[in-house]
Amino acid sequence: VIDIRKLYGQTGAFTFDPGFTSTASCESKLTYIDGDKGVLLHRGYPIDQLAEHSTFMEVAYLLLRGELPKRKELDQFTYTISRHTMLHEQLIQFYRGFRRDAHPMAIMCGVVGALSAFYHDSTDITDPDQRMIASHRLIAKMPTIAAMAYKYSVGQPFMYPDNSLGYSGNFLRMTFGVPAEPFEVNPVVEQAMRTIFILHADHEQNASTSTVRLAGSSGANPFACIAAGIACLWGPAHGGANEAALNMLREIGTPDRIPEYIARAKDKDDPFRLMGFGHRVYKNYDPRAKVMQKTAEAVLKEMGVNDPIFDVARELEQIALNDEYFIEKKLYPNVDFYSGVILSAIGFPTSMFTALFALARTVGWVAQWNEMISDPDQKIGRPRQLYTGPTQRDYVPVDRR
Ligand code: ACO
Repeated sequence: VIDIRKLYGQTGAFTFDPGFTSTASCESKLTYIDGDKGVLLHRGYPIDQLAEHSTFMEVAYLLLRGELPKRKELDQFTYTISRHTMLHEQLIQFYRGFRRDAHPMAIMCGVVGALSAFYHDSTDITDPDQRMIASHRLIAKMPTIAAMAYKYSVGQPFMYPDNSLGYSGNFLRMTFGVPAEPFEVNPVVEQAMRTIFILHADHEQNASTSTVRLAGSSGANPFACIAAGIACLWGPAHGGANEAALNMLREIGTPDRIPEYIARAKDKDDPFRLMGFGHRVYKNYDPRAKVMQKTAEAVLKEMGVNDPIFDVARELEQIALNDEYFIEKKLYPNVDFYSGVILSAIGFPTSMFTALFALARTVGWVAQWNEMISDPDQKIGRPRQLYTGPTQRDYVPVDRR
């Protein structure tokens, strides 16, 4: 607690906590993290159990509604989501307005923000039914939006959703299928996609989720709030880290070059950091990274990919885990360390990695947004600041400055 009166002659006292390292912005019942033990629970269920046994639709239901669904509830929810997978046809014009080399995240920010112009019947945030419809729409349309961003960038025709497929299978078909040919969903790849989506579904008050909550706290419509979350996620310190991690692994190239990069990561005069390492909350192994490593092995085997970057990743992990600098600073692999390896083996270009993260995190964003709006004590988010600018002074006309 800083007494700012002493510093700037103002009254009052407040906490000064840049980066919010020890300030809780809200109460939440969704996700629990014990960063020291490396524990992540959604509504009480451990992430590794959800990743192994559950489906993305089940996890979405769990986060949104609070409990795992019974069979009938799950079928109904899955059906409801599948009914919302189409995009308004007019939105195709919107895509065509972008340059072909536009980053998919730029397209997603724009298209998701624009959804409020198409779905007026789900923008009244005071109506819980409309809030739920908006949430379903966002979860359902995100794969279509992301796949269309990809199709646009490679100059292939857009693929309409096939609601007979599951959430992940449908997304894979919309991304890699072409209208002229049948598309067979590879079950190992589909399972990997599902795992990646589950692992990214929510992560309490990370930067993008906090952004969604802050935007939503003013009463902004849900589509605008999720667009704000996408914008925040784009940064390399957040959702962009898997792209950065893969680029780093490619740059390292062969295991013999690892020591050079480890030395750079430790050098305080070098801005280089080991991407995919370290986390604001986890000071232990990120439980998602363990699942990700297993998934990477399964996908590389299935695809017959013999990519040396997987060897680089495994060896880099081993060296870092036994290095004093990383031990002392409690830097462990995070979820992004292996996800790029998997996504690249499946065939996604690196520019799509963060878009996939946004797709999955939409579930957490809408669940957190709903939780906040349903709270009768919810207030507009309005942090204070520690003013360090000039004290009051008089205006000087331009010719006398
Ligand atoms: N490589 C080398 N050193 C590191 C790394 C790293 N990846 N991460 C942190 N450190 C060092 C810092 O230099 C700092 O050292 P110092 O105490 O000598 O100053 C110390 O560890 C603490 O780091 P901070 O930046 O203060 O930790 P913070 O909690 O603010 O940062 C972050 C967390 C941003 C994730 C950081 O670890 C990082 O930049 N990692 C690489 C990027 C990355 O993988 N991001 C993905 C995060 S997960 C997600 O968004 C899904």
